[in-house]
Formats: sequence, C-alpha cells, structure tokens
Amino acid sequence: MAIKLNIKNTDLREQEMSMVQPLVQNAYEQLTERRGAGHEMLGWLELPRTYDKKEFGRIKDAAERIQKQSQVLVVIGIGGSYLGARAGLEFVGGPFANLLRKCVEVYFAGTSLSADYLSNILQLIDGRDFSVNVISKSGTTTEPAVAFRIFRQKLEERYGKEGAKKRIYATTDAHKGALHNMAVKEGYETFVVPDNIGGRFSCLSAVGLLPMAAGGMNIDQVMQGCADACTEYENPDFLKNNTMLYAALRFLMLMKGRQVEILASYEPALIQFGEWYKQLMAESEGKDGKGLFPVTASFTTDLHSIGQFIQDGARIMFETVLWVQRSKNEVIVPHNSENADGLNFAAGLTLQQMNEKAMNGTLLAHVDGGVPNLIITIDQLTDYTFGELVYFFWKSLAISGYMIGINPFDQPGVEEYKRNMFALLGKPGYEAMENMLKNRLHGLES
Ligand code: PA5
Repeated sequence: MAIKLNIKNTDLREQEMSMVQPLVQNAYEQLTERRGAGHEMLGWLELPRTYDKKEFGRIKDAAERIQKQSQVLVVIGIGGSYLGARAGLEFVGGPFANLLRKCVEVYFAGTSLSADYLSNILQLIDGRDFSVNVISKSGTTTEPAVAFRIFRQKLEERYGKEGAKKRIYATTDAHKGALHNMAVKEGYETFVVPDNIGGRFSCLSAVGLLPMAAGGMNIDQVMQGCADACTEYENPDFLKNNTMLYAALRFLMLMKGRQVEILASYEPALIQFGEWYKQLMAESEGKDGKGLFPVTASFTTDLHSIGQFIQDGARIMFETVLWVQRSKNEVIVPHNSENADGLNFAAGLTLQQMNEKAMNGTLLAHVDGGVPNLIITIDQLTDYTFGELVYFFWKSLAISGYMIGINPFDQPGVEEYKRNMFALLGKPGYEAMENMLKNRLHGLES
C-alpha cells in the first residue's frame, strides 16, 4: 500500500487549491529540471536508482562483520549524520530495539557535548566488545570529532592499534576533511557521503545504511521502498502526486498564518522519526525569516501535556497526523468479571482498535478547536515503508521549500553558534572574536 494523504479535515477551499496549483507546479519543475537554488545537491532525487551498488555490497559485508565482532556498535555523528539511522532503527524495531534485537546494540554518540551522556555510553561498552562507525561529511564537526577521539582511544586501549583499526568504520567525504585524511592514514574501512547529497538527505547513503544494516534492518527493502516512492512521485499531475499535494497544503497553511506544523503520531516507534523530520524541515526551510516551525507530538502520551495547548491555546498551528494502519502485534483487552476498573466496555478490543478510536476522537476535537488536520497513512512500520516515507518527506519538503522561495539545501544559520563556540574555546583563527564575546558575556553576568 502506498502512502495515503487525507486532506478532508484541512478546511481548504477548492479555490485556494486552484490558486496554489501554478506555484506548486513551478516548484516541482524547478526541482525536477534541476534549476532551482541548490540544484547541485540533488543527488538524493534519483538515489534509489543511481546508488553505488558495489559500496552497497560492502555495507552489507561490514554490517555482518560488526555483528560478528561486537555486542555494541557506537555510531558517532550529529544532525544529518545520525538522525536517519536512529529513526530507521526505532521505526522498525521500536523504542526498546536495543534490548529486544538479537544482533548488536546500537548507541549514538557525538550528538552533544554532554559529559554524562558520553559517560553512559562508556559504561555500556564496559567489558563488552564494541565497534565504532564514525560519520561526518565535513570531517571537522566538533561534537563527533571529540567523541571519536575518546572512543578511538578506548578501542586502542582495549584491542591495540591494529585491533582497533579493524573495528573502526569511517563514513565521510571521498576526498577531503580531517576524518578522510585520518582514515586514509590509519587504514580504516571507509564509506562515502556523496558530494551531491547534504546531511539531512543522506540517511539512505552509507551514512544511514551501515548502522541500519548492522542493527538488523533489511536495507534491500529500505531501498526498494525508496525506489517505489521515487517512481510514484514522478507524476507531474498535482492532484495525483501526494508530495505536491502535501507541499501545497503546507504552503497554504503558512499563508493563512499557521506557522507551526505538528507532526503527530500514535506510535512511540515514530518518536525518533519525528526528530529526523524536525531536522529535515527546520534546517531546510527556516531561512530568510521564512518557514514553518516543525514540532512533533507522540499521542496519546502528549495529549496529556501539549494536548491542552493544541486544543485551546494560540491558534498558530496545523497538525499532520502520521497514522500507521496495522500494528505488528495484536494485544487484546481482557474481560474481567469484577470490572472494578470499569473497563469492560473495551474488553475484546485490540489496542490498535482503541488507538484508532483515540486518533479519530482527537482529530475531531482538534478540528473543532480550530486546528486543521491532515492525515498521512502508512500500512505498517517496516523497512520498506521507512524507505518510502523518507523519500516522500524529502521530495515534499524540496517542493515546499521552493514554493516559499528559499534554498532548501543549505544551512547557513548552523554556522553562527559554531563560530562563537570556537572563539570561546580559543580555537586558533578566532582570536579577534574571543575578547568581544567574552566582554559581552561578562556584561550579561554582571
Ligand atoms: O544536514 C546537515 O547538513 C547537518 O545537519 C549535518 O549533517 C551536521 O551538521 C553534521 O555535519 P557533518 O556530517 O559534516 O559532521
């Protein structure tokens, strides 16, 4: 079953849809004719057809090796260099995947500068065999570089320099960067982040595929889902192409003053997918004072927290529900003769049926409360649907980015904090800024 889009609860008028049609058509053409801003970064557009099959084979071999040599795989990367893999592993395996799966446990380091978080992972590898997949396209990002230095030292202490080499897998630029140079010098097995694919579009290259395969995902199925979506969304007819329709809806919502998109799901297995979606949307669209602010919610959990705001607070948002039609497991609410909890009205129902009632009830309540709702339905949380959904969001986002007139493929704003951090850390080359920032901070403190 392909991804379904239900727009009946968005309250958009036919006239508005006709008005937006030329804009979405134009954005679609800019994208597919490769003449929009950032068009040199469109390697993902045809990725499921053009990917390097030889490297794909090496990824599978390396994944098998990691599974044999280690109990734990530490994946080191930040932003686009880890979010997709983490999303995929939980999408298919659920939030407890590490404890439930038979092969290696996969933990993500280099995602922050927290000493406590990093120490927790060090505790997890204590006395257990581990391997490291370090991922950085630029090869110079501070958070993963620091984490890699620490885990490399641990590997060398545990297995010696030669032994460590056999447990380090580096995914980086093919030609340049500190990580690339180090990998060549030390002789690590390397995988490539293609030049024409940016971080947040890279999860179906070696960046995401190696950790996903090592963690037991079927990456053939992932690529098949992605390939089928690639074909499905080539239809240039606006009303028959869900990526165009979704992009058009997001654009109209923004024009109507809905500045926040909430991606709501009813499966905890989708929480990390939500993190991936947030980065894709915010880093791509949030530029030049424009863009929708992406927020995620996991229902029914969050109905007991931000649900209040969604129902009754400032009317600034619309909701995109990511609904999974079939659960993989069936759990039935048992009958109880005493019925002390008063729950016998639900006896015999499956949790999936209850979840669906909750979804429909919430949808009506939110629509009544003035929050437009659209529903994206997928069949089940599988390797295949993960690939399919990733491509759906990539293409939709690229179209809606062009509709609001920004370059969806760069991230100039991310550099600001790095400059300040480097200056405050005393990195060579940032001396002039250092004093200026220190004075400003001093002013804030006093
Ligand atoms: O999407 C992006 O481009 C970013 O989120 C990067 O992936 C992130 O900054 C990590 O960069 P790198 O892979 O160069 O370490």
